[in-house]
Amino acid sequence: MTDNTIASLEKEATSVENQFQSNVANITANPTPKSVDELRIAYLGRKGKVSALMEGMRHLAKEDRPAAGKAVNNLRQKVESAIEDLIIKANEWQLQQKLNQSPLDVTLPVKTQTNTGSLHPVTLMRRTLLREFRRLGFTVVDGPEVDLDFYNFSALNFKDDHPARDMQDTFFIDGRDKTVLRTHTSNIQIHAMLENSPPLRVVAPGRTYRCDSDLTHTPMFHQIEGFIVDERITMGDMKGVIDKFLKAIYGEDLSTRVRPSYFPFVEPGGEFDLQCVKCRGKGCRICSKTGWLEIGGMGMIHPNVFEAVSYDSEKYTGFAFGFGIDRLAMLKYGVTDLRLMFEGNKQFLSQFPIHS
Ligand code: PHE
Repeated sequence: MTDNTIASLEKEATSVENQFQSNVANITANPTPKSVDELRIAYLGRKGKVSALMEGMRHLAKEDRPAAGKAVNNLRQKVESAIEDLIIKANEWQLQQKLNQSPLDVTLPVKTQTNTGSLHPVTLMRRTLLREFRRLGFTVVDGPEVDLDFYNFSALNFKDDHPARDMQDTFFIDGRDKTVLRTHTSNIQIHAMLENSPPLRVVAPGRTYRCDSDLTHTPMFHQIEGFIVDERITMGDMKGVIDKFLKAIYGEDLSTRVRPSYFPFVEPGGEFDLQCVKCRGKGCRICSKTGWLEIGGMGMIHPNVFEAVSYDSEKYTGFAFGFGIDRLAMLKYGVTDLRLMFEGNKQFLSQFPIHS
């Protein structure tokens, strides 16, 4: 300011206002947040032009101050409201800018996920099995993994001192040998028969446990149990059902066969073989040159089992089978080492599909 009179202050105020108006005119067509902020600082900032005018008032004669104050305040209000308008315009401009720059294209493919999990081969096989058995009219049930001796052994016609109990390498839960980790899914037969009356058509997949660990055995493994109880059920029905689901999984051109074998809860009992999925019967490493693969046990339900659950063994017959799911999965997916099935190795698991 040149001198300290009100006249010069008013002159100065008018000049500031004129400058401001011309600055506004320059940016008003497309104000950006940055240009508006620069303008705000230039006029209203601590060292801004309007602040300088306020400062100048201190040098005026006392009686001139109210009038000058009014004039400067007036100017400040004008500047403030003009800048507020510009801020609104600048925000709109910025929004418009964004809309123009990156229009959202909803038809673009999403970024592919590289870290998604996949289904475990045992899960895949279990789902495949259940799908096939549901198609054949079976109901899927579940049962306890920790169970009483009664369900795992005695009701299944394992006599107390029967050597077959030793064959099962049982994990006992309590000292009195009354509670066990089930050694097979056959305990479901007893649970399901006690809870329902015939006819029955049931499958039950689940974990099973045996105190056994080597190249081809793990302490925990998976089985699927299946059984039918009705009037006039025969071995022919059994062979038909098993043949049908194995073919559904491994292909129509593979043969199956039954060999006689012993399980206390079936009579007659047998083991079921599938023609080797690898060499198709010629003999190779997978099938130990026999051309056949053991899949599981089966047989006609023993009358003593029916007695244990109070079914009329004169009226009803039935068959049961139990297969290892892990083995079925290994054969299906060409896995040659059982340990891979339980190690949780990400590289191994990521080869399997996400969906079943
Ligand atoms: N539970 C038998 C096992 O684990 C398999 C089996 C089931 C055999 C049903 C006959 C009938 O070895």
